[in-house]
Amino acid sequence: MKTNKQNADFLHIGKKLTKWYDTNARQLPWRENQHPYNIWISEIVLQQTQVKQGLGHYLRFIERFPTVKELHNASEDDVLLYWKGLGYYSRAINLHKAAHQVVEDFGGEFPNHFNEILKLKGVGKYTAAAIASICFEEKIPAVDGNFYRVLSRIFADDFDISSSKAFQYFSDLALLIMPDDKSGEFNQAIMDIGSEICKPKNPLCGECPVNDDCIAYQTGRVSEFPVKTKKTKVSDLSLKYFFVKHKNQFLIKQRGNDFIWKKLYEFPTSIPTEWEEFIINSKIVNHKLTHKNLSIEINTVELDPKKEFEIFASDNDFLIVDEKQADDKSFPKPLENFYKNIGKPEIGELQF
Ligand code: ADE
Repeated sequence: MKTNKQNADFLHIGKKLTKWYDTNARQLPWRENQHPYNIWISEIVLQQTQVKQGLGHYLRFIERFPTVKELHNASEDDVLLYWKGLGYYSRAINLHKAAHQVVEDFGGEFPNHFNEILKLKGVGKYTAAAIASICFEEKIPAVDGNFYRVLSRIFADDFDISSSKAFQYFSDLALLIMPDDKSGEFNQAIMDIGSEICKPKNPLCGECPVNDDCIAYQTGRVSEFPVKTKKTKVSDLSLKYFFVKHKNQFLIKQRGNDFIWKKLYEFPTSIPTEWEEFIINSKIVNHKLTHKNLSIEINTVELDPKKEFEIFASDNDFLIVDEKQADDKSFPKPLENFYKNIGKPEIGELQF
């Protein structure tokens, strides 16, 4: 910590934030009862997803699994199905595992201290702090990328947010402005200001309740913060699939628990060599994940007669499905787009 900051009193900033939150908080469904189960689900949905996109998914998920007990009793496949469209499916797998922890290790009661909440699968320090502060008034800042941005601007602090020490640094900085009470309001005020006002580009500084205190704003340097020196490492990866079909049916199999797309369904990744002559179409689909640029080759194999198709499926543990049955499973987005658009030719497609 920088000593010049430790000697000054910045608590009035936190007080202004909680006061602002009293009348400006966004009306969001999980804020209605502040139940830890609902806050937990909302926080996991909102990792990597904006409120606008996550809201409908959150409501559908809560309707299907209204309490931790229903989530615990559900099959993993069902949980994955209700995660459909949100991506990053390991979040859903972890939610399901954590529901088992709550029921089996915590007697069905959601843990009510930061250190206990942190034991749940898929819950990191940010999420545990959000739940502990919002539901149990524990004074712990919920520090994430939004928080880095707001704080680095308030203090015009050039600490590198890509550094491994950034989390501890900004957590310490946050405590300088965090009041002793209203911890949940404080953290949620930062969440709302971070996404609605103190935006990465074109921030609405005129509307910010702490613009008087914001050194970056007062000195005209808002665009200089936060400072990030290292870019997220992205690598290229090529994948190959065979969309093996007979009439309107095709083959799918569930992926394992390692690497990308854990437990999602996919098409066969290989076929017997003698079938290569039945490839009727080949297409390259590009798709970006956070850390990977994927180039996916999908070869459509039309198999006739049906018997061969069925023998291949049973020998290799594939499921035979039509589009409607496939819709009850969760697929990586590019594969789902593929089977939904099969038969609709696109520019750039290679026809044989
Ligand atoms: N972003 C992440 N968590 C949030 C929450 N609880 N409310 C609003 N936006 C959020």
